[in-house]
Amino acid sequence: MQIRRITEADAKTVSELIRKTLEISNSTDYPKPMIEALVQRHTPEYVAERAAWTHFYVAEEDGRILGCGAIGPYWDKEDESSLFSVFVDPACQGRGIGRQLVETLEKDEFALRAARIEVPASITGLPFYRAMGYEYKNGKAVLDEERLYRLEKFTKKKEEPQADADSAKKLLQLIHDRHSYRGIYQPDAVPREDLQTIMEAGLAAPSGCNKQTTSLIAVDDPEILKKLRAVIDPPVGETAPALILVLTRRINAYRDRCFAVQDYSAAIENMLLAIKAVGYESCWYEGHITDADRIGWQMAQMLGVPDEYDLVCMLPVGKAAAAIHPPRKKPFEERAWFNRFGG
Ligand SMILES: Cc1cc2nc3c(=O)[nH]c(=O)nc-3n(C[C@H](O)[C@H](O)[C@H](O)COP(=O)(O)O)c2cc1C
Repeated sequence: MQIRRITEADAKTVSELIRKTLEISNSTDYPKPMIEALVQRHTPEYVAERAAWTHFYVAEEDGRILGCGAIGPYWDKEDESSLFSVFVDPACQGRGIGRQLVETLEKDEFALRAARIEVPASITGLPFYRAMGYEYKNGKAVLDEERLYRLEKFTKKKEEPQADADSAKKLLQLIHDRHSYRGIYQPDAVPREDLQTIMEAGLAAPSGCNKQTTSLIAVDDPEILKKLRAVIDPPVGETAPALILVLTRRINAYRDRCFAVQDYSAAIENMLLAIKAVGYESCWYEGHITDADRIGWQMAQMLGVPDEYDLVCMLPVGKAAAAIHPPRKKPFEERAWFNRFGG
């Protein structure tokens, strides 16, 4: 397979490829009228017009065009570029053609001159671009008016090795600074945006066979918080302005192996780190709410949680109003070794 620049003669074939892909691949994620409008728009003339102001490539094998993609300036900017029209023939998807196309686009002069590359990604294409290192623009996982996700990638700059080392240090510092906070919280409400960021970090955790058995409910309504607090006995996290409640479903990952506990544990740790990263404190309250009093179950009843879910953990979220008391951790040599147990 070779990737080459489009020629005038390819416009019709490329238009057909795009239309077919829209109808087969994208139609699972978009309503029919929307797909029809896009199909109408992608005429050979539209492809030729786009190729006139972008660098438009096609992936060709044995004389057949199997994919296409373009890169051009982002709103006429010299230092920002955008990917456009990345499509792979539905019959050839999964062969790495999309990856090769995007890698080619990222080596194009429009990419090399840019500090940032944006992609308007379809719902269908989202996992692909995320795997290619594109992040949600401004950290927002939202669809725009065309039902596209705005993703972006910042291209490497010379000073980045230092920047990378600094962010690695910050991340490690954050891991070591996280500790259970059981003191009083400041009463200030936690913005929804922060709660969403924290929950997104939880949902980004790994899960056995990707079964994604963990679900979350954030509670920030003072009335509901009051009702929940009434059943938390002895009281914990009672001054926190928000709670994140962790739900799990015992779905088997494969055969009789259920990794639901591992799944929600990974999600909780991600959230504890995210909570710290955005400036709040928390504590993993699981023992308190899952013992014989069945506090978690009572909370689940109040929140309308279906029977197949268990409410297993509560994370308060808020700014600390008191000091944090880190517990002593055993020394490294007592718990970790190289090559053999006991070192
Ligand atoms: C599975 C699990 C359950 C926990 N349940 C509770 C709990 O019910 N109440 C509580 O105060 N802390 C609870 N914790 C927090 C631990 O006590 C805490 O993580 C531990 O003492 C270490 O302190 P650190 O978090 O500051 O590193 C729990 C932690 C885990 C991992």
